[in-house]
Amino acid sequence: MNTNRLSSTLSDGLNAQVTKEAAAAQTYISFAVWADSEGFGGIANFLFRHANEERNHMTKIIEYILQRGGRVRIEAIPAPPADPLTIQDCFEKVFESEVDNTKAIYKLVKMSFDEGDWATWNFMQWFVKEQTEEETLAMELLDKIKIAGGAAASGDALYELDRDLKSAPDDAELAQTKTAENP
Ligand code: FEO
Repeated sequence: MNTNRLSSTLSDGLNAQVTKEAAAAQTYISFAVWADSEGFGGIANFLFRHANEERNHMTKIIEYILQRGGRVRIEAIPAPPADPLTIQDCFEKVFESEVDNTKAIYKLVKMSFDEGDWATWNFMQWFVKEQTEEETLAMELLDKIKIAGGAAASGDALYELDRDLKSAPDDAELAQTKTAENP
């Protein structure tokens, strides 16, 4: 008896996303290693923590495919991009990587919608919210580097940024949680 509840299209799409989340984790790790070797231990810590988030995303999708009776394929992870040139470049690349991932998530949402696979559509909503958070977090990083002086940020400003990011929260606060009393 066939208990697979995923179409082959969605199964392929979800499996591709497993590899994409793993690749995102590798990218964060490679940027963390770069930041640490440049002397930014706090930024490296932030990026290492974020790599774990990406691995959590990967695990959630693997578990979902298994729960729906599908077949998980663990494939080769593409190499991370070249090292950033500056902290600003690093944060810009983080933002671009998150937007790219959001586009992949939206494709899966659309595929599940087109198929009427409401279980997968419902599962993917968690990722839609998560991507909004991750893009917001990346935008906040870009704001911080802008305030620090952008590409011309001084050593003092980068020192403070590095120190702050070591203990910065891993999640951004979404608009849905805001109120008139707490904007
Ligand atoms: Fe798994 Fe940063 O998205």
